[in-house]
Amino acid sequence: MPGQDAEIRRAGPGDVAGVRALCRTVQKAAAAEEIGIHLRAFLVHPFFALIMLLTFSVLQWILQTPLAVTAGATLLLVGAEEGLRFWLFWRRFRHVFEEGADLKDLGLFYSHPRRFFLVAVINDEIAGTVAARETDTATSAKLWRMFVHPRFRSKGLASRLISACHEECARLGYTHVVLRTHETNFKARKCYEKAGYVCTGRNNFARLYPHSFDVVHYLFIISDANK
Ligand SMILES: CC(C)(COP(=O)(O)OP(=O)(O)OC[C@H]1O[C@@H](n2cnc3c(N)ncnc32)[C@H](O)[C@@H]1OP(=O)(O)O)[C@@H](O)C(=O)NCCC(=O)NCCS
Repeated sequence: MPGQDAEIRRAGPGDVAGVRALCRTVQKAAAAEEIGIHLRAFLVHPFFALIMLLTFSVLQWILQTPLAVTAGATLLLVGAEEGLRFWLFWRRFRHVFEEGADLKDLGLFYSHPRRFFLVAVINDEIAGTVAARETDTATSAKLWRMFVHPRFRSKGLASRLISACHEECARLGYTHVVLRTHETNFKARKCYEKAGYVCTGRNNFARLYPHSFDVVHYLFIISDANK
């Protein structure tokens, strides 16, 4: 099972290119997945039917054209309006799925004594990553950069990376680990909950009516067994 065969260790200078490539691939795929989820939810939402009906009625009243022509014009108009609305929203939101300062210079960012970046290596290939860094609270670390290459998923690799991350956090004196993810990132949420994380709250990160892109906060308490 690849998840079991992986070697988990701190990233070194020779891993930088592989780590950046993996993170970029996973972040792009996650962005596409997130857009897909919201697009599908929007198309079946009553808000979409309402906006179509209203536009159709107004156009029919103004243009007095055959119904098929009005329907075509409605689709074009609503498509353009929704496209513009989404584009304006995405301009504010997309930085979440961009590379991030730490990935641009891994060596420098993680040279800080309370931060680390772990890689899971299978047959010389970087199959997964996880990182942690300090927070405003001295005893809490923030887990992030939890990425597994699609080819190595559902084989327990994320679970192993999370355990390794907890061990490293305990070694650095942290007693709590916090993280944030999107409400619609169901796979990641299940994975964290299985690892023992509890949800501590949520906040609205961005809103594209009728959807909210809620951020969910999780907490893990490192037990004495991990120390
Ligand atoms: C989330 C992610 C890290 C999981 O990696 P993984 O190696 O496949 O996870 P594991 O095999 O260790 O699975 C651990 C648990 O996660 C959950 N899980 C993993 N994949 C899942 C899926 N496709 N559907 C539902 N639950 C899933 C399950 O509870 C699983 O435990 P189980 O196999 O005993 O049921 C991976 O899908 C990923 O890289 N996603 C994109 C990046 C991302 O969203 N990262 C989190 C950012 S906050």
